[in-house]
This record gives sequence, C-alpha cells and structure tokens, in this order.
Amino acid sequence: MSTHTMLGITVLAALLACASSCGVPSFLPNLSARVVGGENAVPHSWPWQISLQYLKDDTWRHTCGGTLIASNFVLTAAHCISNSRTYRVALGKNNLEVPDEEGSLFVAVDTIHVHEKWNSLLLRNDIALIKLAEHVELSDTIQVACLPEEGSLLPQDFPCYVTGWGRLWTNGPIADELQQGLQPVVDHATCSKPDWWSFRVTQNMVCAGGDGVISACNGDSGGPLNCQAENGSWEVRGIVSFGSGLGCNTQKKPTVFTRVSTYIDWINEVGTGS
Ligand SMILES: *[C@@H]1O[C@H](CO)[C@@H](O)[C@H](O)[C@H]1NC(C)=O
Ligand SMILES: *[C@@H]1O[C@H](CO)[C@@H](O)[C@H](O)[C@H]1NC(C)=O
Repeated sequence: MSTHTMLGITVLAALLACASSCGVPSFLPNLSARVVGGENAVPHSWPWQISLQYLKDDTWRHTCGGTLIASNFVLTAAHCISNSRTYRVALGKNNLEVPDEEGSLFVAVDTIHVHEKWNSLLLRNDIALIKLAEHVELSDTIQVACLPEEGSLLPQDFPCYVTGWGRLWTNGPIADELQQGLQPVVDHATCSKPDWWSFRVTQNMVCAGGDGVISACNGDSGGPLNCQAENGSWEVRGIVSFGSGLGCNTQKKPTVFTRVSTYIDWINEVGTGS
C-alpha cells in the first residue's frame, strides 16, 4: 500500500470518527463542584446545551434550555413550546447577556415536533424535537450529546448534572452564565413513594437531586440531565420537566425529567421522517 493511500485512509478514519462522536467536550466540565443550587460551569464545557429563544417586542428572549443531539436537531420539553411563538436556537453560548460570543451561533427553526401524546395536565410525554433550518458546524463550542440506549436505566445515586440558565435557588434570578448542578439519580421506587412524587411520576420519567441538601433548582425547563456513559462520553438522560412549586431544595421532591431512554424510537422516527 502506498504512503499516499495509507494517509488517505487515516484521514478518512479520522473524519468518520469525528462525524460520529458525541458527548465529548473540548473544554472539560468541573466535576469537583458540589455546591447547593449550582454554580458557574466552565465556559463551553457542556457544548450541546442550547438556549431556546422567542421573539417578543423585537427582542429575542431566553425561555428554555435544550440539547443538540444531531447537527440539525434539538431536544427540549413539550411544555416549552407555544404554537403562537417564533423561536430561534442559540448554540455555543456561555453568557446570554453577551450578544456576540466567540463560537456562538443563532439558528432559525424549521419545524417543531411536539410528542403526539403530550399531556399538559398530567405532564406526561413532555418532549419535543426541534428541526433546525440548517445543519450547524460542530466545533469546540458546539457539540452533540450522546443518546442513551433504548430502555436503559441508571441506578440510585448515579451522579448526573443538570445545566441551564434557569433559577438556581428559590425565587433567585435567571443566570447570565451557564450553570451546572450535581443531581444524583433517585430511582423510581423511591421517587414514586406516597410522600415523594407518588403517582405523578411514571416509568417514563427520571427523578434526580431530591435529597434536599445538594439539589440544584429545577433549572431550565427543557434542558439536559447530563450523565456520563461507561466510555466517558456524556449522554442526555433527561429533559427538565417539572419540580416542586414549594422551592428548589424541598425534601422528597426531586426534579422530574422526561426519561430520554424511553423515547429513542420516537426520536429516530421523527428524525428520519422529517
Ligand atoms: C471547580 O470547582 C471547585 C469547587 O467549587 C472550585 O474550587 C474550583 O476552583 C473549580 N475549578 C475550576 C477549574 O473552575
Ligand atoms: C460512547 O458511548 C456512547 C453511548 O452512550 C456512544 O453513543 C458513543 O458513540 C461512544 N463513544 C465512543 C468513542 O465509542
């Protein structure tokens, strides 16, 4: 084999590896942080985190978080979507108050698929997939998160991180800089106990962060629950759905997420059908 061909194969292999990689940030998140209510993330260490924004009075406003799962698809919560609004997606952001951050991008929306069985009363199937108007170029600041295996579950206390620009403590302000908060998983048996969330949580949801001590706030609706896979890459295991109206650190009321591993088939169907 000539050197030329070998080089060609190496380059191709590198390109393919790059194209298929997910959940590997260029800037590593700080995982030693265990602060009540969350804290500033290392800028761009959660590069799949997006800000969903809508137009009001000629100004774009942050409304929800979301997760980039393909170069033209964003996962968010159904309750973030209102038919009457015009949306855009901000990618590669750290500080929402800085309009022209290096490595950031604003992209228009093509279509929004809200789950057919979204139930706003019971908060069931709180999931939506946003197709972007264009494929975005992945970079150090913009990456896709991995999806978990269909049907897979995480054990009690598995350390996951919620990220977003939402409230960090009860009635606290919306953050300018992206925040992260450690939220260990609470298993279904515990979370569905009568004095916890009871029948309001189903097997299609994940609970996390409910010990009332280090729990972050509900954070941004629609944003990711980030959990590390065995190979070290980050998966989006949950979509922030609801929390306690009583406040962020309410005991026995962890944040409730849409369990992404229940919806892999749905995501694939929407993705390939549109
Ligand atoms: C990581 O978090 C810890 C605990 O909050 C903090 O002391 C440390 O300075 C942080 N490191 C970086 C690189 O931000
Ligand atoms: C690591 O595991 C995830 C599954 O969560 C997979 O999507 C990804 O491709 C794997 N990455 C590598 C480099 O094998």
